[in-house]
Amino acid sequence: MNTQVQDPVSPKPMPEPARLEIRNLRRNFQGREVVSDVSLKVMPGQVTCLLGPSGCGKSTTLRMIAGVDMQDSGEIYVDGALVCDTVHRVPPEARSIGLMFQDFALFPHLSVAQNVGFGLSGTRGEKQARIEDLLEKVGLLSALKKFPHELSGGEQQRVALARALAPRPSVMLMDEPFSGLDERLKDEIRDSTLEVLKAEGAAVLLVTHEPDEAMRMADEIALMRDGRIVQQGAPYNIYNAPVDKRSAAFFSDINVIRGEVQGALVSTAFGEFLCPGHADGTPVDIVIRPQHLRIDFDRAGRGPNPTPQDGTPARGIVERSRFMGRESLVEFRMDFDGSLLRATVPSVFLPKVGTPLWLMLRRERCFVFPAL
Ligand SMILES: Nc1ncnc2c1ncn2[C@@H]1O[C@H](COP(=O)(O)OP(=O)(O)OP(=O)(O)O)[C@@H](O)[C@H]1O
Ligand SMILES: [Mg+2]
Repeated sequence: MNTQVQDPVSPKPMPEPARLEIRNLRRNFQGREVVSDVSLKVMPGQVTCLLGPSGCGKSTTLRMIAGVDMQDSGEIYVDGALVCDTVHRVPPEARSIGLMFQDFALFPHLSVAQNVGFGLSGTRGEKQARIEDLLEKVGLLSALKKFPHELSGGEQQRVALARALAPRPSVMLMDEPFSGLDERLKDEIRDSTLEVLKAEGAAVLLVTHEPDEAMRMADEIALMRDGRIVQQGAPYNIYNAPVDKRSAAFFSDINVIRGEVQGALVSTAFGEFLCPGHADGTPVDIVIRPQHLRIDFDRAGRGPNPTPQDGTPARGIVERSRFMGRESLVEFRMDFDGSLLRATVPSVFLPKVGTPLWLMLRRERCFVFPAL
């Protein structure tokens, strides 16, 4: 007998559908696949950054979602409804998608208010209210009557953002929207853009090739390489648990210490590392970012004692030290194999060239990957 209490009146709430979902998108140009089997979801109010090096297929992916290019296979859904597969194709303007590309040209002969109101429907009063609401959000209400040529680059960018958001799109696609801006303006505009996007609640897919920008903006990063998404997750996870050496190297300089597996262990000058699941003789790389090395002093030819956290010290000779502003970068020529390792230290630490020092690897910060 079924003893479970059933409540037929209030069924379990359905999970919220993704604002944007793409499944297995593919695109070939002249027989070369530039987008290979790309799938991802963006939830309401979430910013996902499609991050990857130049030419990896980011803009091509965005163009297919926008509907200005057509995939060879795969499906695109907005708010759970199919907008494009290889049979059905909803035209770009009917997809509830807002676009903001690098070249966000405003209409030069229209005022700021007219630019923002360009794609809006509704009564005059409704349009006016929406224009003013958005211009207030981007901090440009006082520029309502100005023309684009009277605005700075950053201000024009904010008008373009307001214009793209005006029709309340379900999804905002942004392709390197900050790349034309002055370096010093960028951070400020990124933050204020994020604030407006969050206030509007659209799902955002933002393309960038700058890891810093993705870390700053994203709730989730989809790391793309050679037409594929190689890793997807929160910025913290992508940075701290990269899937391979190239993913690790995309976010910062890395140090690589080569070793070979023997009995599920790799022996290096910095001690042994666990490496289960690999056959004896497999070459592996121990990868560590420069800020995760520890530097210690030379004690008449000896280093500090080994510890479980930092392993065994190895000696290196300072080859170069540079002050970088927030941190100092020290390069070491290592005694054990003549390789060069880089360590960064907060603030000022500038040992003289030729100084012997000892390096240790913070164990929990090391990644072990098969060497490719
Ligand atoms: N219409 C096209 N015809 C032929 N090849 C194309 C076309 N569009 C893009 N490509 C090629 O597809 C690849 C991916 O291009 P895409 O513009 O998507 O790269 P991206 O990741 O946006 O790079 P970037 O960061 O430089 O903007 C490139 O090698 C590019 O030359
Ligand atoms: Mg591009």
